[in-house]
Amino acid sequence: MTTVCEYKPGLEGIPVAQSSISYVDGQKGILEYRGIRIEELAAKSTFLETAYLLIWGELPTKEELNKFENDIRYHRRIKYRIRDMMKCFPETGHPMDALQASAAALGLFYSKRALDNPDYIREAVVRLLAKIPTMVAAFKLMRKGNDPVQPNDELDYAANFLYMLNERKPDPLAAKVFDICLTLHAEHTMNASTFSAMVTASTLTDPYAVVASAVGTLAGPLHGGANEEVIDMLEEIGSVEKVRPYLDDCLQYKKKIMGFGHRVYKVKDPRATILQNLAEQMFDKFGHDKYYDIALEMERIVEEKLAHKGIYANVDFYSGLVYRKLGIPSDLFTPIFAIARVAGWLAHWKEQLGENRIFRPTQIYTGFHDEPYIPIAER
Ligand code: ACO
Repeated sequence: MTTVCEYKPGLEGIPVAQSSISYVDGQKGILEYRGIRIEELAAKSTFLETAYLLIWGELPTKEELNKFENDIRYHRRIKYRIRDMMKCFPETGHPMDALQASAAALGLFYSKRALDNPDYIREAVVRLLAKIPTMVAAFKLMRKGNDPVQPNDELDYAANFLYMLNERKPDPLAAKVFDICLTLHAEHTMNASTFSAMVTASTLTDPYAVVASAVGTLAGPLHGGANEEVIDMLEEIGSVEKVRPYLDDCLQYKKKIMGFGHRVYKVKDPRATILQNLAEQMFDKFGHDKYYDIALEMERIVEEKLAHKGIYANVDFYSGLVYRKLGIPSDLFTPIFAIARVAGWLAHWKEQLGENRIFRPTQIYTGFHDEPYIPIAER
């Protein structure tokens, strides 16, 4: 029996899946992965352990984690042919477009669509988690005409990425902070890119296509692209005194203030609180950033003006400030979000395969019927 439902733009409030991967309480500012609070994971876990938890549903034993980390370490390199393909990308192209194309290209080499084989699932998870950071770092260097830096087997996941990106071993605090950033971005219930991943997954295509479609969705400024826009906005404002006139202007002309607001959170995003703390740790060790003062003033005034609408800082507001201090260019902020979110996308892919039904929603037709065809000469 088909039930007629009310049309909700953006599917707001409509459940599209049953999931045990993560949970958000937007009124209380709670985020849990597999029932564990994000604050707990940020303080005690690592990104790869958290990825394992998300994808396989429980924390790994020491042996399981060692094997997972070693497998990922082993698969970090990318094929010469993928590097050659990336060399042909225009250097002015956005790194998210480069990542989407490269992720899809992995399917040319590894797609078997053996979706009922747990070994294939595991292999795809390992390959995607291992190779996506290498591809992001490679494009950053290749677009300047430089050779990519080979992964360093002595370094863990986060440290190795910073090493490939900045061509030197990172400070331990920087590596730790970056690892926490990955954990914070690893998963977030039914957001746009995850939904996109699930729709793609439901057709039983390969996991590389699933991740490529999610990367394309994450790229937009209303989703993952907002972190890059936050830094552009802070730079455009330029000083603490100019914050209030900038915000007045946004509100007068109904312009969205980047890094604020969320479909689900009606209080400050718990990840923004952790990221703000990480930013402060980075400033204490590596020097202050004047854009942090601008950010603090923005948060204060946005709260004063928009708290009644439940609009507070979201995950994207402070992440850019942390990444800047890590020496990461702003157009790589969203690809870094993707590196982390691969874990969540793959967890949902795996869950979707468990009880798959192809997504095929309906629409409310608002067009005409029985229209005559007018020959081109008469139009
Ligand atoms: N600045 C100013 N006003 C805002 C903002 C904002 N950032 N966000 C929401 N509002 C206002 C809207 O103007 C609207 O007001 P109205 O009811 O008076 O017309 C009301 O709050 C509801 O906003 P919607 O856009 O309908 O909320 P929605 O849930 O559709 O959008 C979204 C959520 C897209 C995140 C929105 O808040 C936004 O565009 N924020 C800026 C971009 C951003 O930071 N995105 C990152 C989100 S986190 C992530 O994806 C990882």
